[in-house]
Amino acid sequence: MKIGILISGRGSNMVALVDAVKSGEIPASEVAVVISDNADASGLDRAKERGIEAFAIERKGRTREEHDAEIVAVLRERGVELVCLAGYMRLLSPLFVQAFPGRIVNIHPSLLPAYPGLHVHERVIAAGETRSGCTVHFVDELLDHGPIILQREVPVLPDDTPETLAARILEQEHPTYIEAVKKIVLATENTG
Ligand code: GAR
Repeated sequence: MKIGILISGRGSNMVALVDAVKSGEIPASEVAVVISDNADASGLDRAKERGIEAFAIERKGRTREEHDAEIVAVLRERGVELVCLAGYMRLLSPLFVQAFPGRIVNIHPSLLPAYPGLHVHERVIAAGETRSGCTVHFVDELLDHGPIILQREVPVLPDDTPETLAARILEQEHPTYIEAVKKIVLATENTG
């Protein structure tokens, strides 16, 4: 399975996926390319250090569709079959979603469908929730939305700050994303 990963920032989920592919924990796969919408994303260097082709495609005053079309063209050129969003902080246009039907996945740090979007941990704490977590899901045209593949729960503790809660969830994100991608790869192998 040729995997393309999109990031916007530090890319810790991307690193978890790359390392799991390299170790064989995610079998029969290759990370073909890592693309960021932001040239300053520190994840680009972390991908390059691991020998993965990685570069930015910035929007630069273009429409969302033009930007997405360029990313789709690169992913197709590299033969990408599965697109993993890993902290990619842009909503995909319908053009992008339709270019890889059922082949785009995302990770989000909440128990979706609750708390899509930004400032998740602040909102979870403000609402007095006692549990939160992370979700890996197939991507549709709505923000942080689509069929759920895996979820993992963590407690929200009384003295949590957004930072402590984010860190507790991030620790669960990495193994959850690996397990979800592995599940997709195995399911694809079985159906040919
Ligand atoms: C992760 O917590 C991920 O779940 C979140 O951004 C962070 C990226 O961290 N994604 C979203 O909020 C998507 N709506 P990373 O760059 O270290 O993987």
